[in-house]
Amino acid sequence: MRVAVIGLGYVGLVTAGGLTEWGHEVIGVDTDADRVAKLQSGHLPLHEPDLATIVAAALANGRLRITDRLEDAILSAHLVLIAVSTTDEQGSWQTRTLLRCLADVVPAVPDDTPVVVRSTIPPLFVKQMTSVVEELRSEAGRQPIPLLINPEFTREGTAVRDFLAPDRVVIGVAADPHGRGAYRLRQLYRRAEAPILVQRAIDACVAKLGSNLFLATKISFANELAALCDLFDASVEEVVGAMAHDRRIGGSFLRAGVGFGGSCLPHQVTDTVRIAQAAGLHAPLLDAVDTVNLRQRGLFVERLAGLLGGELSGRRIALLGLTFKPDTDDLRGAPALAIARALLSEGAVVIAYDPLETAARRAAELVPGMAIASSAFEALDRADAAGLLTEWEEFQALDWTAAARVMRQPILVDGRNALPVARMLAAGFIYSSFGRGTHRPEALDLVASPVGREAALADLGQLGRGIIGATIGEEG
Ligand code: UDX
Repeated sequence: MRVAVIGLGYVGLVTAGGLTEWGHEVIGVDTDADRVAKLQSGHLPLHEPDLATIVAAALANGRLRITDRLEDAILSAHLVLIAVSTTDEQGSWQTRTLLRCLADVVPAVPDDTPVVVRSTIPPLFVKQMTSVVEELRSEAGRQPIPLLINPEFTREGTAVRDFLAPDRVVIGVAADPHGRGAYRLRQLYRRAEAPILVQRAIDACVAKLGSNLFLATKISFANELAALCDLFDASVEEVVGAMAHDRRIGGSFLRAGVGFGGSCLPHQVTDTVRIAQAAGLHAPLLDAVDTVNLRQRGLFVERLAGLLGGELSGRRIALLGLTFKPDTDDLRGAPALAIARALLSEGAVVIAYDPLETAARRAAELVPGMAIASSAFEALDRADAAGLLTEWEEFQALDWTAAARVMRQPILVDGRNALPVARMLAAGFIYSSFGRGTHRPEALDLVASPVGREAALADLGQLGRGIIGATIGEEG
């Protein structure tokens, strides 16, 4: 099948690449000329495992073409998939971009070509979108077209795998009088070994939202459970491990830590609470999901302060990991950025490292005053304490014994419960995580006094190859 994919961000590119893997022919369209030029020469605008390989292969074998010429793409396609952004700069819902895109696409689409919205849309927009499309067709003097939604359930970092091996495919019908839209979508997904559910558009839309809200709820539940485990001196891993055997509960998305970030979960929780509230419906459970999630960041900062004798001012803190999860360069809603800002505002000197240099550079722009190191050891060197905020593989493989030696004090708060307690104790660390208590090697209890902010900043000046510098002088 020949498919036009409009919008080549995370969702559009993964969809385009995945479809070519199934043998479909894809014309990818984006209005950003720079992005189009880069993609045409095989350069991806984002980091997503396996995506570069499948895009390069599809460009080479001709299954994927990239263009900024919308009309050419939609006139020759059997199906038009729209994957433009539906969030604004602050990460809240916005539908302007999608409405603009529909205004360009809908009047020009041939009569028998279904238009499928793959972007995640707010439920209250479903009706509006349906009537806008009807009006655009009638104003253009054209026949109505099938309009459907096809929400994605792909996670950044594993998006290609999630696309090719979905748990389910959800098709939401907004208008499809002859069933042609649903039929073509079924054809599109015939290689997916998963149930294909055809529902009303509003049900499909809320199914997508409901999935994310439930995942967020699981994480906040795990975080509250972790706090209880710390209170009762239990281990959250042991507890969740035992609970997970119950098939009604399961074990996934119950990892405690600094909470969820990203472009989906946080805003979908807060926007849903806000939208429901505006309509007179209080959503106390989701409200609490957000409260618990934000509390985790504060707890992380408190943990560090507690282990440093209550004083963060003048302390040098190394942060390991900045992106909202591993295997992505995405910093949207990343807990690490909020935590870095909080530490800086307490007078700490913050030096961060992320394995993806592009992400680290961007983070330095977003958090003025935060220094960036070019390796984990550079960040840890002479640090009073460290915090782990993204569970990159690199940190799990780090020589923590050597790390303890280069730090001024071997203190680590693990915000992702990523490291084994016993290993960190053996490496000589005072080690704290969430729902797994705080552990100290027997002989190690002292907390050195702060060297002072000026001295700590002066120390940073000695960093070698760094991409640091520009932001160091600024006050946090
Ligand atoms: C999410 C949904 O999972 C996906 O189905 C949807 O299509 C897009 O939104 P994504 O935001 O890419 O995907 O990441 P996800 O894997 O859901 O993780 C979100 C956040 O939750 C991350 O910050 C992650 O670190 C955190 N998390 C996840 C936990 O804190 N604990 C867990 O147990 C799982």
